[in-house]
Amino acid sequence: MHDRIRHPASRQRITSADHAAALIENGMTLGLSGFARAGDAKAVPHALVKRAAQMPLHIGLMSGASLGHDTDRLLTEAGVLSRRFPFQTDPTLRRAINHGDVAFIDQHLSQTAERLRAGHLPAIDVAVIEAAAITETGAIVPTMSVGNAPVFAQLARQIVIELNTSVPAAIEGLHDIYMPGSRPQRGPMELGSVSQRIGGSAISVDPDRIAAIVMTDQADSPSHALPSDPETDQIAGHINDFLYNEVHHTRLQRSLLPLQVGVGTIANAVLHGFLDAPFDGLSLYSEVLQDSTFELLDAGKLLFASASAITVSAPVQHRFMEQIEHYRERIVLRPQEISNAPELVRRLGIIAINTALEFDLYGNVNSTHVSGTHMMNGIGGSGDFARNAHLSIFVSKSIAKGGDVSCVVPMVSHVDHTEHDVDVLVTEVGLADLRGLSPRERARAVIEHCVHPSYRDALRDYFNRACLRGGQTPHVLEEAFSWHQRQRETGSMREGGSALRVA
Ligand code: COA
Repeated sequence: MHDRIRHPASRQRITSADHAAALIENGMTLGLSGFARAGDAKAVPHALVKRAAQMPLHIGLMSGASLGHDTDRLLTEAGVLSRRFPFQTDPTLRRAINHGDVAFIDQHLSQTAERLRAGHLPAIDVAVIEAAAITETGAIVPTMSVGNAPVFAQLARQIVIELNTSVPAAIEGLHDIYMPGSRPQRGPMELGSVSQRIGGSAISVDPDRIAAIVMTDQADSPSHALPSDPETDQIAGHINDFLYNEVHHTRLQRSLLPLQVGVGTIANAVLHGFLDAPFDGLSLYSEVLQDSTFELLDAGKLLFASASAITVSAPVQHRFMEQIEHYRERIVLRPQEISNAPELVRRLGIIAINTALEFDLYGNVNSTHVSGTHMMNGIGGSGDFARNAHLSIFVSKSIAKGGDVSCVVPMVSHVDHTEHDVDVLVTEVGLADLRGLSPRERARAVIEHCVHPSYRDALRDYFNRACLRGGQTPHVLEEAFSWHQRQRETGSMREGGSALRVA
């Protein structure tokens, strides 16, 4: 206990999750630690669910990104959530958002902290932050993520700490907590390499604002990324061939430039593909470290990884905990406004690889809205990286839902990343290098290299007819969403409906 809470006065604040939850009142806004299911506050949000059974309780909830332990599901089912920022992945919450029951504010993940400091968002009443330790000065040592915890702790009226003893105390030293100064006097973020540290190892707070400390010992929820499959292997292969060609033409060195790889099954599989690629001395400047990061670190391919969270399967989580001193030399976790900072993404020359739900002929990307209306997860950090990257790559399978959906469409039904932010598009079919191409040239490359063969003729026909009408970016506007409309009406984007499903 004394090792974990080194600030003597704070030891007096240890209490139960139920008592800590009683600090949270109807109408408040909460800032919870947690990013991509890692380092999330666990006990107090669950106690809130119990509390909601006894009294009306509606809160706004901010986190770093998605939470584990079914927290979003349980809070949604209990009717506690009224507003949610800035990202989520839970199916129950997703349904409530799309039903209009929870107001969801989908934000670039680097921006929440900035917007909070600017007073553009509701003020944080209570921050609930998972910690591995509290230092002599009352500073908070985070656990498996940093996310938005520093800004929540900085701005909240009261702080509740969940001290999680399942995380080894040896995690102290893994984090680099840097807080940008106030505008307009703010100086540059003096980070010139992936492995550099520019901040402290803990979140400095006035210990008097720590209202409660709750002891916990639950591990993070494991990642739910699926293993790679033949299509994701093909996508990885196309990216490796493309990057190898860049090396061959001396536009990149064999160590490439720092990689950012998005979250989810496809992104994890793409990074896994670097294991067999002819590159060495790689580095990662990303948002989340998934299983594939540890495979590359262990294989000696990856020298250093910087991110905001570690979200891995249970075996990899176990391995990390066992060998934390070893990994601490090669990993750093930062606040998400630093891991995703546009200033640093541009300076370091990141190769950004993110996942699209769909993209169009000209390279506009929809990462968030199924059929243009229904929220999937949120934009996450993809925009922070894509707009500022040295190379902005988007990947997707060419079809979804057994072939009823083409992920390459005439016009995206929602735009997250405009054509100006997209250099390369990849599906299992192939890779379209769009750099330096005009819209019409981009369209030909996408039709040739990315669209599934069963949709290629229809897309070519659309493009040819659009070109007859002229324009810098030709469209047959009255048909631009006809594929989405057909899917809504018949269940399939194919002419003739789902009878033409591919195996
Ligand atoms: N229309 C409808 N559904 C689609 C679709 C489309 N065009 N494309 C994919 N899907 C469905 C899949 O069928 C799958 O559905 P299921 O869960 O019912 O099986 C689901 O979307 C997920 O697709 P999957 O192929 O498993 O990809 P993924 O796990 O890699 O996730 C995104 C893809 C786009 C949802 C995910 O990467 C995401 O949320 N990205 C935005 C945020 C982001 O980029 N964050 C990282 C930045 S650092």
